[in-house]
Amino acid sequence: MDKALLSKTAAAMVARGKGVLAVDESRGTCEKRFQSINVECTEESRRAYRGLLFATPGAEQFVSGVILFDETLRQKADDGTLFPAYLAKKGILPGIKVDKGAMDLALRPGEKVTEGLDGLRPRLAEYFKLGARFAKWRAVITIGDAIPSHACIYANAHALARYAALCQEASIVPMIEPEVLLDGSHTIERCEEVTEATLRATYAAMAAHNVSVEQLILKTSMVVSGKDCPRRTGVEEVAERTVRVLKRTVPAAQPGVVFLSGGQTDLDATAHLSAMNAMKGLPWPLTFSYSRALQNPALKAWSGKAANVAAAQKAFHHRAHMNGLAAQGKWKPELERQLA
Ligand code: 13P
Repeated sequence: MDKALLSKTAAAMVARGKGVLAVDESRGTCEKRFQSINVECTEESRRAYRGLLFATPGAEQFVSGVILFDETLRQKADDGTLFPAYLAKKGILPGIKVDKGAMDLALRPGEKVTEGLDGLRPRLAEYFKLGARFAKWRAVITIGDAIPSHACIYANAHALARYAALCQEASIVPMIEPEVLLDGSHTIERCEEVTEATLRATYAAMAAHNVSVEQLILKTSMVVSGKDCPRRTGVEEVAERTVRVLKRTVPAAQPGVVFLSGGQTDLDATAHLSAMNAMKGLPWPLTFSYSRALQNPALKAWSGKAANVAAAQKAFHHRAHMNGLAAQGKWKPELERQLA
């Protein structure tokens, strides 16, 4: 275990004004996204699309790292360089999604547990050799009538801790992602309560498994009301509740926290991040690790056509730039037009 490397990687992931691009969509999720633009999802179309994002001139000013899917880690850029080396040359850290997906939790209808621990140690050793310096594991917590259960929260926390320990042992920074889903009609108060319980359990499990919080990145959902909740909440309320929960649960010794976008609109994800960073006295850097909220406009602009690559890169650059400002609390709605 190379502690100096772990610390260096974690610090670089949350460097000021930068965040992480998630492009680790599984085959099925990628298929859905490509269907929305009428593009066939093949190994080559996935390579071409992801490659255009990585090749975006200047993206490295705002993007510290990229979370890849196993397939992408082994693919090559147009110039023939393997993607991990291509990214590293631009100063972007290659990361890898290592979980095998959220499966139904037995005897717990409506709840999931993430699998992928079996064989993870040799897989991590291979990923390190292939250039991955951080890894992601996503746990899914669903809010509903009488759920999440204690069993679901603890099963997921336990798996996250075992994965995180294996990562640190392999000198790979674990990005632990307990996602509280946006789906449902729950209130923001309920989301706050569930997020707090989830994070408490997650950090208790980290401690039990000797995971060092100094070399750990949390990827979390924000505290928001369910997407079918009739009461809409303002940007300030989301920011205040999210930071309150994080302060109660996340050790100050941790190098940083990143957020997923989770189905929020692109602008909401940016506005919420900026409002949090505008607060004084945060113990850790807060930044983005979005998939949809960074990629949506680029995917549409590309639409599978080589002639649209420059337009797609422009759209991606813009969202990365806006979120880079939000990571410093400097985003304003009018900048969306002024800097477009
Ligand atoms: P979204 O930002 O689209 O929620 O994706 C982030 C992610 O990595 C989910 O696991």
